[in-house]
Amino acid sequence: MDHDKTAIPIEGGRFLIVGGASLVGSTTADLLLRKGAREVVVLDNFAFGAESVVAHLRQDPRARIVRGDVMRLPQLLAASEGMDGVLHLAAAMSISMDADPWTGLDVNIRGVQNILEACRANRVRKLVFASSNAVYGYGPGVAGDLVESTPFHSVGAPTGAVIYGASKIIGEQLCRDAYRRHGLDYVVLRYSTVYGERQHYRAANALYIIETLDRIRRGERPRVIGDGSETKHFLYVGDAARANARAFEAAASDVAVNISGPAPVTTLELVRLVTRLAGSDLVPEHVEPQAGRVRLTSGGAFRIDHSAALRAIGWAPETPMEEGLARLIRWRDAAAGLDAGGADA
Ligand SMILES: NC(=O)c1ccc[n+]([C@@H]2O[C@H](COP(=O)([O-])OP(=O)(O)OC[C@H]3O[C@@H](n4cnc5c(N)ncnc54)[C@H](O)[C@@H]3O)[C@@H](O)[C@H]2O)c1
Repeated sequence: MDHDKTAIPIEGGRFLIVGGASLVGSTTADLLLRKGAREVVVLDNFAFGAESVVAHLRQDPRARIVRGDVMRLPQLLAASEGMDGVLHLAAAMSISMDADPWTGLDVNIRGVQNILEACRANRVRKLVFASSNAVYGYGPGVAGDLVESTPFHSVGAPTGAVIYGASKIIGEQLCRDAYRRHGLDYVVLRYSTVYGERQHYRAANALYIIETLDRIRRGERPRVIGDGSETKHFLYVGDAARANARAFEAAASDVAVNISGPAPVTTLELVRLVTRLAGSDLVPEHVEPQAGRVRLTSGGAFRIDHSAALRAIGWAPETPMEEGLARLIRWRDAAAGLDAGGADA
């Protein structure tokens, strides 16, 4: 495509966050407003997200919350009119995809097509699309350094996770196609598992964090599935929000990059870390995986390389897990009316 790559300053800009009543969306809305955006519109059908997650935005006259569905193009056309940038987050992740693949595929594929059509029709300057490390798949074969050219692995992985990962691959390709056909600038961000304040129960890997905390607060021993040597790579939600902002600000387009945290951990290390930060000395118990639950495994130790994001959009993760987890625990305890008894990071 023969044009200058669009850079959109956040200050003074108008942004639509689709699926914004979410973990990533609510934190990004806060950041864009802090950075001086002129307008931030959050559109959500509240299928998974909650009004409470974005209720605080009502205090800011520059923010607007719109009830809308990505399956309804007229609603997207109305919401994206006059927008400089659109961040597309609405999706079903592997657990929701496993529960209802029909709806999940509609949202993750037709929803993306509708967003692209609304952006094209309203001459939106750039789309940022939330993809996932699920595009590398799960199960045996996923090991070592995962870079943007790593292929998709599906053999031996749970169907919900494979269908989710495949739907994100299609979403990415639809963005490329809109760039090729219509010159719509886009940046794809492949987040690894996001955690932080406003944590939910919808991401299979983040359950290791939130369920550990729940058990500790009930006085029960935290659980580790298997021997706990499995690798996970997490991303603090504030770092995800910064990546979204950088994707708009940077003169980048037609690119897909990994957005992961500083370093991977094993599930045993993670459970021990959450336990310590929550101020507990409970000893984890090792259990077998629960039948019927989506469980995301890999073939060995892996690391999701985020160096391409530094080159493309000038982003690198800043928040170590100790610090991000301590923030999550403080938020959770405050929401539950508990004294934040955990140690600071
Ligand atoms: N959370 C993670 O660990 C993670 C990891 C990798 C990628 N991602 C991707 O990042 C994005 C945001 O993740 P999150 O954790 O903030 O998700 P989330 O579940 O909190 O948010 C998704 C939002 O989309 C909304 N939504 C669903 N269907 C919709 C529809 N038909 N119309 C309008 N809105 C609809 C939901 O109500 C929800 O608020 C998703 O696209 C997800 O696939 C998340």
